[in-house]
Amino acid sequence: MIEIEVKTKRQHAYNIYIGQAVLQEEKLLKDIFSSKQKLLILTDKKVADLYLDSVMTQLRQYTNTVKSFILPQGEEAKTLKVVEEVVAFLDENSYERQDAILALGGGTVGDSAGFCASIYKRGMTLVHVPTTLLAQVDSSIGGKTAVNTRQGKNRIGTFYQPDAVLMDPLFLLSLDKTHYAQGFAEIIKYAASMDKELFTYLKQTPLVQIEKNMAWIIERCARHKAKIVSADECDFGGRRVLNFGHSLAHAIELIWGYEAYSHGQAVAIGMYVTTKISEEKKLSKTGSAAEIKALLQKFDLPWQMPSTEAEKIVHILKNDKKTQGNVLREVIISEIGQAHIIQVPFAALDELTALYCRG
Ligand SMILES: NC(=O)c1ccc[n+]([C@@H]2O[C@H](COP(=O)([O-])OP(=O)(O)OC[C@H]3O[C@@H](n4cnc5c(N)ncnc54)[C@H](O)[C@@H]3O)[C@@H](O)[C@H]2O)c1
Repeated sequence: MIEIEVKTKRQHAYNIYIGQAVLQEEKLLKDIFSSKQKLLILTDKKVADLYLDSVMTQLRQYTNTVKSFILPQGEEAKTLKVVEEVVAFLDENSYERQDAILALGGGTVGDSAGFCASIYKRGMTLVHVPTTLLAQVDSSIGGKTAVNTRQGKNRIGTFYQPDAVLMDPLFLLSLDKTHYAQGFAEIIKYAASMDKELFTYLKQTPLVQIEKNMAWIIERCARHKAKIVSADECDFGGRRVLNFGHSLAHAIELIWGYEAYSHGQAVAIGMYVTTKISEEKKLSKTGSAAEIKALLQKFDLPWQMPSTEAEKIVHILKNDKKTQGNVLREVIISEIGQAHIIQVPFAALDELTALYCRG
């Protein structure tokens, strides 16, 4: 079993544990759960059908009361209405702040469960058991929790670190091709923005070989994220590099809806288009966008910007969380493996609009 420490300044340190059958590690589970009287597992229906019974049976050995609550599928899990329902369930079943919430699922379950844990009685223990590739390499690490509002994605949230993250690559065997590919969008993000060696490995290695090496890839990405969030928990500095491709991704998700473009697909397009533009502006080495495009294609991910009115995108970018004053803080790469945060004045965004929409 691999252990990676996440050590933030504001909150407690915790470990990410990566290994096959990590949920059968007796000593580890005893350490995490035996002091808890009650545990609530939050999950969605698909994951529940596959894994809930076995996870509950396993955890009942360590905690007196283990209950479950099924969240709606996908982004529907991330609403204030769902949070209210979870809070009502916790109240009806007399959960205390010493008790724990376990998020069993992908990034949507993790974001919503994390938010619930962070606000109920001012904070319960939280354990993440990520079951999608995206959640394992990205969303379960670093303590960002979120729900969506009508105004946009992740508008409400907290920074709330879990007590542990338990990752078993075996969960990924039941993941469908589309969601597997989406996880690769985030892996390509790490590779393109901070890990040239990983980029080269992904480029040169046949897919069957890559699939056999998933534990190594997950560990490598988890180490990047753990290091970055340990240095900048609240996203005021270095953590922002993790947003490579994400400004445009959020615009795509908002305009076309989460059903048309999943988070991973939107990030894929965001990385390519951002790099194409920064290349045109001589901020990125020529050929970087083509390299990203080739890797996205290898993993069945989209790269082309769908056509839209440019003004719509600019409007969303101007309201992005990463704006300050009349400036958008954008992440670009100068070459594969080298990310930089630059400031883009709103006036320049207008000029770039045509480029965004040309794709
Ligand atoms: N908190 C963060 O730092 C952070 C970072 C990146 C993304 N996110 C968020 O993550 C969310 C996307 O997460 P996601 O891509 O995991 O989506 P998701 O949670 O919707 O999961 C995708 C689908 O896979 C199913 N699934 C989950 N595990 C499975 C398994 N092992 N086998 C078969 N099916 C399985 C789910 O039921 C769901 O239908 C977005 O809301 C995004 O905003 C958060």
